[in-house]
Amino acid sequence: MKAVVTAGPTLEPLDPIRFVSNRSSGKQGYAIAEALRDQGFDVTLISGPVTLDDPAGLHTVRIETAQQMLAAVNAALPADVFVSVAAVADWRPAETADRKLKLDKSAMTALPLTETPDILKTISHYTADQRPALVVGFAAETHDVATHARAKRLRKGCDWIVANDVSGDVMGGSENAALLITGTGDEAFARTTKPELAARLAHRIRAALEQNQSDVRLRAP
Ligand code: CTP
Repeated sequence: MKAVVTAGPTLEPLDPIRFVSNRSSGKQGYAIAEALRDQGFDVTLISGPVTLDDPAGLHTVRIETAQQMLAAVNAALPADVFVSVAAVADWRPAETADRKLKLDKSAMTALPLTETPDILKTISHYTADQRPALVVGFAAETHDVATHARAKRLRKGCDWIVANDVSGDVMGGSENAALLITGTGDEAFARTTKPELAARLAHRIRAALEQNQSDVRLRAP
């Protein structure tokens, strides 16, 4: 079976020197890609700029922007499962200059931004021939985690969402806790290391896909 995983931040350039990005380390996404590999998946990992090495035994594609990430995901499909762990920047500078901008500080009061593509939503809405059987999103929230994540799952159109409380030291840290919201029930993953949480999720994904192959529907409203 084939898996596509996105990880890390995206980096949206203003000019060759400056950019808009976020603090994602990529650790959780890399751990999930490795855990899926360990479950026997053929994995393509599409990664934004992080300091982690390419994991052994899977295909890593390095990108910078959200647009490049979407193109790389499309190139990696078809797949049985898509896991969208990347902290994709929601906005990018409306224009990217080829040369370093000489900013007139007194005139520069705002930075014009434009929306990046929503990769998870795009893939979730593909028709059955293109859409992975299981699409899993992540919801990074600092408050009302389960409520926001449930709404996000419906808004994005993914099958499952992994709700993540990022109010503490999760981003960049080595541990994580999560609530898996499937539409047919919630499962709590207690705080543990990112690789251990990844292993549990990967195991759950494989079991669901194997069940799906024996004709049980994955999708629930
Ligand atoms: N995501 C994506 N493309 C985007 C933004 C987000 O694919 N342009 C994916 C993330 O990989 C994650 C999910 O959408 O699986 C939710 O990301 P999150 O940052 O929590 O949500 P946002 O869509 O940014 O919503 P908000 O900032 O309002 O919470």
